[in-house]
Amino acid sequence: MSNDEIKFVINGYTQGAIPDYQMSAFLMALCFTGIDDCRTSYMTKCMVETGDVPDLSDISGIVADKHSTGGVGDKTTLVVVPIVAACGGKVAKMSGRGLGYTGGTIDKLESIEGFNTSLGFEKFIEQVNVVGAAIVAQMQNLAPADKKIYALRDVTGTVDCLPLIASSIMSKKLASGADAIVLDVKYGSGAFMKTLKQAQQLADLMVSIGENNGKKMKALITDMSVPLGEAIGNSLEVIEAVKTLKGLGPKDLSDLCIEIAASMLELSLDISYAECVKLCENSISSGSAFNKFSDIVKAQGGNISCIDDIGLFKKADYIKKVKSPKSGEISLMNTEKVGEISCRLGAGCLELDDKIDHSAGIIIKKKTGDLVKPDDTLAILHTNNKEVLKDAEAEYLDSISIQ
Ligand code: URA
Repeated sequence: MSNDEIKFVINGYTQGAIPDYQMSAFLMALCFTGIDDCRTSYMTKCMVETGDVPDLSDISGIVADKHSTGGVGDKTTLVVVPIVAACGGKVAKMSGRGLGYTGGTIDKLESIEGFNTSLGFEKFIEQVNVVGAAIVAQMQNLAPADKKIYALRDVTGTVDCLPLIASSIMSKKLASGADAIVLDVKYGSGAFMKTLKQAQQLADLMVSIGENNGKKMKALITDMSVPLGEAIGNSLEVIEAVKTLKGLGPKDLSDLCIEIAASMLELSLDISYAECVKLCENSISSGSAFNKFSDIVKAQGGNISCIDDIGLFKKADYIKKVKSPKSGEISLMNTEKVGEISCRLGAGCLELDDKIDHSAGIIIKKKTGDLVKPDDTLAILHTNNKEVLKDAEAEYLDSISIQ
């Protein structure tokens, strides 16, 4: 297949000249025969060019971005963006809303009263230049080819195909306009990629697509077989992010945030990874990362009193502890299921017209490898919908194995 043919198919389908049945045949053929990295990179470029690409050239310095392939309790953007900005990096972040059982940064930020996630473009650029970072909702016309192709893949059994997954994710990343991109590719029961090998293959292909399109790239491969940190759910995750920025967060989350932020700085500032780690750690201990988060919240109209005093976040009406029924070691957590339970408590949308309850979610008290006794608290459920509480408790117990 030549580059011209690839361009013809992507443009033709996006503009409606190629019908669904022909595109389905193309996608299916691509799944069976495969496509090399160069052509996948070119296909991704064509997908990007079907929409708008923001011009970030008015931002001084290298603009860095991060992308996580999704997970449960992944609030890294809330921590990483202020750390990078506090250390002199620039982040013009466009984020998404929750998708299925994985939460979205924009929903999380909207649990801060008044936080505006749709700044106009000029204000967005100005804030990145003045504050160092801004976080807004993804623009509508970002890689429209991907939106159309993804919907078709969903109904034609062609979602699970590496080049299609990589081009889909990277089309949106490249269209966000950053110069340097750090990918956090997850594997495990709470991730899209269930095995380490699949995650490695996806990471390699996405790095190659980015580099072939002129970006500085780095990929981390991280475990999502247990939720990240302790909090799942929008305001609960913001609270945990604030604690992490103050150096009081759970170790797994704190370590990963430093790793991602240091990688973004390494690509942006051209200094060694070890030096970047030190810069990031200092930004936490000196309070500059937390202050930067406050600056971002203030610049985007959010009420910073709840950032200064996390006790001011509205609590859910019903809070219930899930107790261990027996002694033993937690040998396994079904993280995807834990994410679904959190959605059912109100933290996310499982159906298109579900509404988000910002105070709902789960605080996890025990994870895989922890020893428990009868009556130990395994998790605390938060919801404003009393009716779902009983089933959620039973499902939570079902989602973990104690041996
Ligand atoms: N996420 C995406 O954006 N695209 C895929 O194909 C899979 C996950």
